[in-house]
Amino acid sequence: MKPILVKTANEMAKISREIKGTIGFVPTMGYLHEGHLSLVRVAKKETDVVVVSIFVNPSQFSPNEDLDEYPRDIDRDIRLLSELNANYIFLPTENEVYPDGYKTWVNVEKITQILCGKSRPTHFRGVTTVVAKLMNIIDPDFMYMGEKDFQQLVVLKQMVKDLNFRTKIIGCPIIRENDGLAMSSRNKYLSKQGRKNALCLQKSLLLAQKRYNEKVFTSNKIIAEIADLIENNKGVVDYIEIVDSYTLEHLYELKKGCRILVAAIIENTRLIDNIEIT
Ligand code: PAJ
Repeated sequence: MKPILVKTANEMAKISREIKGTIGFVPTMGYLHEGHLSLVRVAKKETDVVVVSIFVNPSQFSPNEDLDEYPRDIDRDIRLLSELNANYIFLPTENEVYPDGYKTWVNVEKITQILCGKSRPTHFRGVTTVVAKLMNIIDPDFMYMGEKDFQQLVVLKQMVKDLNFRTKIIGCPIIRENDGLAMSSRNKYLSKQGRKNALCLQKSLLLAQKRYNEKVFTSNKIIAEIADLIENNKGVVDYIEIVDSYTLEHLYELKKGCRILVAAIIENTRLIDNIEIT
């Protein structure tokens, strides 16, 4: 069944209000891959009506980032979503989301200024603002998000709690290529060699799990090993952090359930990955 395409906020809000049953929402910036599609599949299983948004949100890119080059292929996205029987695709224009005179921003403090927020200080303000708007328009029962963007997931859970949104956020596992690279729309920027080098991110995280199994718990030791592996593969480390999964606070020692988050630049592409230590 072909999903219904909706372009305006008013139309989308009207449709949502009239839906009987539960709404599952999957926000995306398009150029869909298996990572996105896995969220749609879970939403289809768990809710009655699935809405997917596709909007490359300019406010989460800073002026020196890749907004203009960000990959787009709407026809392919629609085809993929048709195959999964998504019910609605919300495809607003930039002017629909940020009309002339737009002035309101949603900002979660502190946890947006660490990790990715250090090198991208205005990024999460853009994410929280657009997701708050989308949630107000669609009013979903459940919103499905990937653990691939782990900090984004934690920041949005905080926003939902602080602003009393009724939507429940469901975090879903990272989907990887066969060789272990976390799927990302940005992988497209990598050359063949860069693509090979990029495997060091997951390899370094698996090495950390191995060290934990060997009872090496000191964060600094493990961080140094991860950095070596990334640098040996021509990666430039942005950050390597071992944190509490709920608060994102730095941990001096690994413990079960903590997360290791890495961001590194391979060729000119900034890639992120993470692992839960079990
Ligand atoms: P985008 O990067 O398109 O990702 C949309 C959703 O897909 C996010 O929840 C992200 O975590 C999830 N995702 C991406 N790659 C994944 C993978 N390999 N495995 C599992 N899930 C994956 O994240 C955004 O868009 C934007 O910031 C958005 C929330 C839409 C706001 O503009």
